[in-house]
Amino acid sequence: MGDPLQLLVLIVCVMVSSTVGTSQTRHIATIKGDIIVGALFSVHHSPGQKQAQTRTCGDVREAYGIQRVEAAFQAIDEINKNKTLLPNSTLGIEIRDSCWYSPIALEQSIEFIRDTISASSKKAKNDMDSAITSVNPNCPKPELKNIVGVIGPGSSTVTIQVQNLLQLFSIPQIGYSATSTDLSERSFYKYFLRVVPSDLFQAQVLVDIVKWHNWTYISTVHTDVIPSSPTPSR
Ligand SMILES: *[C@@H]1O[C@H](CO)[C@@H](O)[C@H](O)[C@H]1NC(C)=O
Ligand SMILES: *[C@@H]1O[C@H](CO)[C@@H](O)[C@H](O)[C@H]1NC(C)=O
Ligand SMILES: *[C@@H]1O[C@H](CO)[C@@H](O)[C@H](O)[C@H]1NC(C)=O
Repeated sequence: MGDPLQLLVLIVCVMVSSTVGTSQTRHIATIKGDIIVGALFSVHHSPGQKQAQTRTCGDVREAYGIQRVEAAFQAIDEINKNKTLLPNSTLGIEIRDSCWYSPIALEQSIEFIRDTISASSKKAKNDMDSAITSVNPNCPKPELKNIVGVIGPGSSTVTIQVQNLLQLFSIPQIGYSATSTDLSERSFYKYFLRVVPSDLFQAQVLVDIVKWHNWTYISTVHTDVIPSSPTPSR
């Protein structure tokens, strides 16, 4: 099992055959282009405890999910309208739902990886197709898509898991809201960077505010809920 391609094909095939058991189909939002960016947004809440087994997501998240999809579409349109930013190529995007839940984010990341591998070279595409045929002839053959990197997902815990997968295939990942200090560890998360400051700065700012106001006593509220764990049904 040393060959990552064989392993990936196996995972993808198991996934494809097991989607029969899940009641929910995953929707993808795309804009076609010469260069495609992958994005993981949490358009639904994480599965409730009963739905975790079938990876069925919770309710729609409007501000956190739908608005981000719309904002991403707007950004892509603005970039493509501008003749100087990316001359002679169009930027596209493929947005998938991570549901704020690691197993679903990983499942969706495998889809990105599959597309990237198959687009990277004709030989890889042929290897992939024959590997698929040998593992399971009923597995659908992937279409070519040039995914250059992945944006997201939102939560740090899920981001770490997705990064562990993406870095095996040298796919760059950019975080928009994962602030955990763990992700600053360059040697572990080689293909990750983020556009938000790490929590280290947030803690420092809190201390600065307390000192600036000469406060001598503060209370904090803490929760030990792991951000990406299944939440009870809403
Ligand atoms: C295109 O992008 C450049 C660089 O950001 C900017 O200076 C320019 O104003 C933009 N052009 C238009 C028409 O928006
Ligand atoms: C874009 O296409 C035009 C016309 O074919 C060409 O003159 C120009 O050099 C191209 N620009 C880039 C950056 O490839
Ligand atoms: C905090 O204490 C310092 C030193 O006593 C004083 O100069 C400053 O004005 C105080 N800041 C506030 C916000 O009260």
